[in-house]
Amino acid sequence: MIRTVIATGVPGVGKTTVTSRAVEILKEKGYKVKVANFGDYMFKVAKEKGWVEHRDEMRKLNLSQQKELQALAAKAIVEDAKKELGDDGVLIIDTHAAINTPTGVWPGLPKHVIENLNPAIIFVIEASPEEIIARQQKDIGRVRSDYSDPEFLRRFMEFARNSAIASAVLVGAAVNVILNKEGAVEEAANKFVSAIEKI
Ligand code: AP5
Repeated sequence: MIRTVIATGVPGVGKTTVTSRAVEILKEKGYKVKVANFGDYMFKVAKEKGWVEHRDEMRKLNLSQQKELQALAAKAIVEDAKKELGDDGVLIIDTHAAINTPTGVWPGLPKHVIENLNPAIIFVIEASPEEIIARQQKDIGRVRSDYSDPEFLRRFMEFARNSAIASAVLVGAAVNVILNKEGAVEEAANKFVSAIEKI
């Protein structure tokens, strides 16, 4: 059985950090694991098309362009996972339940995407807005200033959590909110793994 889960969280919350530690723990336990970063898949195509130079420019593209990239990414992730994992393993998709675009807040996991990915769990990784902003500032090389106002982040996190629930309803997935507390990546990663083992 392939256990498919989705890791979501606002930019800078530490979802990639938590997911990477969870992968190490899962591998130590003997699971075959594939991590697919949705942004990487979108960025590869966006760059080939000459639409962007940097990954943080993608959410500023026209919505029609972002939709095209999103659909292609979902399709490619499922195909690659089948090739790499066969019938058994854990597929973790690192992505977003909501994206802040110039047209408004946009769902990262709309019907056609979530049905294609068909996860058992959607994780929503959270931290306080102040912690998230401090982490964004430490992460040199990334441009996440459109997510760096505490009041905006508070509202956006609520929106992202509700988007995750809406996507989960479409496929009967569980929604699992994990708090990535300051200096406590290990605790968050263990909760992530424990839920996957119960699928
Ligand atoms: P993506 O690649 O996901 O980039 P991101 O949004 O910036 O998120 P990251 O994964 O880079 O950050 P993170 O939250 O995982 O933080 P990190 O672990 O690095 O997405 C890029 C773009 O792709 C999106 O903007 C969008 O355009 C597009 N996209 C993606 N999915 C899409 C979809 N489904 N539909 C449409 N578009 C989509 O950690 C940050 C820092 O915090 C690090 O320095 C780390 O050391 C530190 N840290 C982490 N945890 C802790 C802790 N517990 N205590 C102290 N420090 C910590």
